[in-house]
Amino acid sequence: MSIIELLASLSLLLVPLFFYLTTNSWSKAPSKSNPKSYPLIGSSAAIFANRNRDTQWTSDLIQSSPTATVVLRRFLDDTRIKRFLNTGSEKRLKEACSELREFARNIIKEKKQELSNKPSLETVDLLSRFLSSGHSDEDFVTDIVISFILAGRDTTSAALTWYFWLLSQNPEIEKEILREIKDKSESPVYEEVKDMVYTHASLCESMRLYPPVPIDGKVALRDDVLPDGTVIKKGMRVLYHPYAMGRLEMLWGPDWEEFKPERWLQRAGDGVSNDGKWSFVGRDPYSYPVFQAGPRICLGKDMAFLQMKRVVAGILRRFKVVPAAEDGVEPVFVSFVTSKMEGGNPANVQHILKTKFYDYEKGSKSRQTLFDFLGNGIFNIDGDSWKFQRQVSSHEFNTKSLRKFVETVVDTEVSQRLIPILSTAAANNSVLDLQDILQRFAFDNICKIAFGYDPAYLLPDLPETEFAKTFDDAAKISSGRFATLFPFLWKIKRFLNIGSEKRLKEACSDLREFARNIIKEKKQELSNKPSLETVDLLSRFLSSGHSDEDFVTDIVISFILAGRDTTSAALTWYFWLLSQNPEIEKEILREIKDKSESPVYEEVKDMVYTHASLCESMRLYPPVPIDGKVALRDDVLPDGTVIKKGMRVSYHPYAMGRLEMLWGPDWEEFKPERWLQRAGDGVSNDGKWSFVGRDPYSYPVFQAGPRICLGKDMAFLQMKRVVAGILRRFKVVPAAEDGVEPVFVSFLTSKMEGGFPVRFEERAN
Ligand code: HEM
Repeated sequence: MSIIELLASLSLLLVPLFFYLTTNSWSKAPSKSNPKSYPLIGSSAAIFANRNRDTQWTSDLIQSSPTATVVLRRFLDDTRIKRFLNTGSEKRLKEACSELREFARNIIKEKKQELSNKPSLETVDLLSRFLSSGHSDEDFVTDIVISFILAGRDTTSAALTWYFWLLSQNPEIEKEILREIKDKSESPVYEEVKDMVYTHASLCESMRLYPPVPIDGKVALRDDVLPDGTVIKKGMRVLYHPYAMGRLEMLWGPDWEEFKPERWLQRAGDGVSNDGKWSFVGRDPYSYPVFQAGPRICLGKDMAFLQMKRVVAGILRRFKVVPAAEDGVEPVFVSFVTSKMEGGNPANVQHILKTKFYDYEKGSKSRQTLFDFLGNGIFNIDGDSWKFQRQVSSHEFNTKSLRKFVETVVDTEVSQRLIPILSTAAANNSVLDLQDILQRFAFDNICKIAFGYDPAYLLPDLPETEFAKTFDDAAKISSGRFATLFPFLWKIKRFLNIGSEKRLKEACSDLREFARNIIKEKKQELSNKPSLETVDLLSRFLSSGHSDEDFVTDIVISFILAGRDTTSAALTWYFWLLSQNPEIEKEILREIKDKSESPVYEEVKDMVYTHASLCESMRLYPPVPIDGKVALRDDVLPDGTVIKKGMRVSYHPYAMGRLEMLWGPDWEEFKPERWLQRAGDGVSNDGKWSFVGRDPYSYPVFQAGPRICLGKDMAFLQMKRVVAGILRRFKVVPAAEDGVEPVFVSFLTSKMEGGFPVRFEERAN
């Protein structure tokens, strides 16, 4: 970028910069009273103001087009700056538009001449009609000419290109079309073309899979509410997505991937012999908005069908079209939208996280954004350093370590710290923030198991946890960086050390100080008795030859994030769901009471119903609701989405847990049974439950593939032990008024906004 371009860019950004610097909106939370008032896809300003709600609205987008991919247009790119400076693609655009207008003006000139020679033309075309209508303003008619060229040239040609490719892959369908064509004359007249019903259906079917206009939208002129309850604010852009809608199982059935003209047809006849004439069965244009719908439905629809059918008849009658590419090479559907892809298709998730693991990585943008907080810790790196950290850490999660974890660390924390605090609260009928309690619990746990250090945060007087606040701020501000409209603005704030970035710097420095103290103590301990009996993760890293302090500090911080914020978030939502589903709570209690009061490793593992209920709770409220990678090279996803090198590809456990196509029409219900089956005779329904897992690509709550969460088993053991400890003695009762629902928020990991105030009622034995 030249110095002039840089200055121009800076001047264009002064206003938003002022706005950004003077508001500290990373701490702004969504309004409780109206949790759905986020933009579906909004104006830049609306998105900017609502950026904390990214999870929710992206989820809604994916839910409305789940099988496919939601490709989001860049909200703000450099086109305006380029246009202002007349450089790059914008310079070419200017030249191209000028040539196009010249071309259109020549046509108009000729037509005007023709009209002036013989004013009452026999065959009146569209252009003559406009010119004779009194609207002879040249710019106006030029615009009309260009619009019609766009409408007429790019739509039918795109539709037919994909159509001939589909026919080449489906010879049986081609045969049926040929049969129909051969029934007509060689130069079919209007009625004959209209009557080509099978061909018509095959064109509709082809455009279902490859619509010439794959995405379209409107802007709201006033506030509104959509039929599904989504709140639309004036000025917001609302998109609909023919490409995705054409691939929805709920609209087209489980065989939606098949090219099947028959779904648009029915046979006349006796219903048995199946040899009657085809008749066309249309779909409502709202399920199939390939030509848009309503008053602005495509004016050229009928013309387009006539033209395409005539072309198909002309070509197929004489020729077989054979793709020249090698067998197996599939064409790639491209559209004008790229740059960021959000998806909920399990096949895509598997592709990114496993099949092409080495083609997708965390990426430098994400790395930079989180670097101040996570440095070179395991969550923020790729390549050899990741491999090394993963390898050393994995020892911490073998069966021996896990048994020790659940039978000593967790057991002690539950019986000596958690239960006494809850007993006192029950006796005094006082309200506690369960989210805070669970975070303290998880923090003590992870420090003990990973670093052999007890921070003792879960104590009866619930000591001020400056550390917790510092950690939360660091996570919140770091994740807020991802959502900034102008990513380089946080860098300016950081450079100037102001606002949220100032706070982040302080928070990271405090965190590192905390981690360094733990490391110092551990080093001392190791130097006193070099062969420690109970080797923890930190000792393992320090003994591995990697004693570089910054590196080990990063590892400590990553493990605190992994261990503290995930299980506590999962359990907070879990206890809320149980309070709303007393029958499920009873079933869990039955299972818990079957085990001993301090269940050993095998007993905790065997809590199958509790395990299923935790999976089910995290389906609806995943601790890591959205995650992603960056493509290292060009690629094509299994659903045909084109990925360009450098593009960010996100997947969305929160949305995927709410997809009807994955979980059925009752996806909104909290139903542990969807993870279970009963042993037994299949009739009495009283056999033992056994757990039926889901593939990790449909349920990527712990990620999947080579980077699947290392702490998954540990997390389940801990959570089940905590559930057993609490539920055996207490009923957890939300303290908020009836009907007030908690709000899901997410900063790297998810949380319940404002905490979870509860009372504990001691159960009678
Ligand atoms: C319910 C609890 C948990 C959930 C839902 C969860 C989820 C996840 C997810 C989604 C990732 C991938 C993050 C990314 O790479 O962007 C991850 C990675 C990881 N998790 Fe967990 N986690 C949980 C508990 C734990 C616990 C208790 C530990 C123990 C310390 C842990 C340790 C790790 C580690 C070390 C990684 C990095 C793996 C790698 O990059 O190779 N997790 N977890």
